[in-house]
Amino acid sequence: MSRGLRAAAAAAASAVAAVAVRDLLQRDHALLRNFPVLGHGRYLIEAIGPELRQYVVAGNDEERPFTRDQRRWVYASAKKENNYFGFGTDNDIEYTAGYPIIKHRTFGRTVPRSNPASGLEAHVPCAKVLGAARGRAKAFRPASVVNISGMSFGSLSGAAIEALNKGAALAGCLHNTGEGALSPYHRRGGDLVFQIGTSYFGCRDEQGRFDLQRLKDQVASAPVKALEIKLSQGAKPSLGGLLPAAKVSAEIAATRGIPQGVDCVSPSRHAEFCDTDSLLDWVEMLATETGLPVGIKAAVGDLDFWAELTTLMATTGRGVDFVTIDGGEGGTGAAPLIFTDTVSLPFQIGFARVYRMFAERGLHEDVVFVGAGKLGLPDNAIVAFALGCDMVNVAREAMLAIGCIQAQKCHTDTCPTGVATQNKWLTRGLDPALKSVRAANYIKTLRRDLLKVAEACGVEHPGLIDTASVEILDGRTAATPLDQVYDYRPGWGLPSKADQSAIAALMTEPQGGSAPPSDDAARNLAEVTPANRRRPG
Ligand SMILES: Cc1cc2nc3c(=O)[nH]c(=O)nc-3n(C[C@H](O)[C@H](O)[C@H](O)COP(=O)(O)O)c2cc1C
Ligand code: SF4
Repeated sequence: MSRGLRAAAAAAASAVAAVAVRDLLQRDHALLRNFPVLGHGRYLIEAIGPELRQYVVAGNDEERPFTRDQRRWVYASAKKENNYFGFGTDNDIEYTAGYPIIKHRTFGRTVPRSNPASGLEAHVPCAKVLGAARGRAKAFRPASVVNISGMSFGSLSGAAIEALNKGAALAGCLHNTGEGALSPYHRRGGDLVFQIGTSYFGCRDEQGRFDLQRLKDQVASAPVKALEIKLSQGAKPSLGGLLPAAKVSAEIAATRGIPQGVDCVSPSRHAEFCDTDSLLDWVEMLATETGLPVGIKAAVGDLDFWAELTTLMATTGRGVDFVTIDGGEGGTGAAPLIFTDTVSLPFQIGFARVYRMFAERGLHEDVVFVGAGKLGLPDNAIVAFALGCDMVNVAREAMLAIGCIQAQKCHTDTCPTGVATQNKWLTRGLDPALKSVRAANYIKTLRRDLLKVAEACGVEHPGLIDTASVEILDGRTAATPLDQVYDYRPGWGLPSKADQSAIAALMTEPQGGSAPPSDDAARNLAEVTPANRRRPG
């Protein structure tokens, strides 16, 4: 090799080494910290990917679970970058059966804000007070209609949990612990919903039996605002979880109250109740002992359980404070394909069936309904609110916000971005401080978009969007109103009249407006003040 070539090779090697060192030391990109130099390939492909894929592989709306457009929207929102799309929709609206259309109002009682940045810090609390209907001692109004769904420490890394918990604090929303108990990473300032799974992690004795005192100790040790009993999850209904021995580190063992280095298998059913009647007894006992609102999380399959639950609630005075419905399209750290693909109903169908049962028995206004299952996208969330959801939980969308690239390796412990792994090398790439801000930005942006759509529909809050505001396309030439699709009666899907007035009064943020009127217009409009034009009552 000539001297010139050797010098060029040495210069190239030093440049690569310098890039590697910079990648290892920077904190912005987990992928580059974990895969110095090589990681740049991904960014290059991402940069030219749209052009390549447009001609060679998939379209913007083909990938699953989240299309490229959906992921782009989450990434841009999380980074507070421009999340607008140019040229118009590339969705196949006219030919996609089931496509939701939201119907804006020309002269509603609200004026949507138009500035891209406005409303980002808007306060969008829940339209119902959680636990109030049943007189729970610690009833409260959740501060955010968008909250972080249960994902356990174990399925997610400590760094990811920390990023989400700090993000929840920044965004002023609730962070559900998932069934893996309350870890040190959940104690970073965010308010919590403590989830109780079939293994009673964090509130069990040495034999694995539920231990009320330990639950009370956990609740007292952290800002736990509510308890959620997990009955099932959309991606793996009827199955318990499995955390393989290799992933049961000392930290996870201590958090869950289980032996280290042994397969951690969660049973499929709870031991503390065996039917709907005993479930309700347990709910009441937990609420009395802790003072907290208590709810259940479930995917929807057979409806016998819901029929019995609503009948018992209507006749015995016992009841749950909230119901979280998880769609069959929901995510998981790991589950058998047949369960993720086929067991349990998709969100809209499952939720509407359950909501109808509560509404037919006159219970719908006394229960807070929470939805999950790709509801971290504004269009899906709006349909959920119209159907009667009071809040939505986001799981995988929040993972995207903190760096997940949808590599779908969460079950292998090799997650390249450090989100869903316990591998120390991979998790060190995820900087919780930076990613917490991204999680918060994403949640605030989703909330802001929901608010804007509500205002475009003429109401002050997403919870006030009614079924009349949504139609479902049947193809190019027909659409069916949402209430007809799901057999809803007038008024269903909305909070009580008192809750409607209360939440409208709480939405005091300035809305959008118009340019100054001409003199003629001003004279004609003199009798109609801006305030009563926007809020006729
Ligand atoms: C990695 C991962 C772990 C999860 N762990 C739990 C859990 O511990 N408990 C639970 O009820 N749901 C769990 N879920 C389900 C989510 O909470 C959520 O219900 C579901 O993913 C639907 O929301 P999404 O479409 O926004 O992801 C998990 C989901 C993921 C992706
Ligand atoms: S990057 Fe891949 S493996 Fe990691 S959390 Fe996302 S989907 Fe799971």
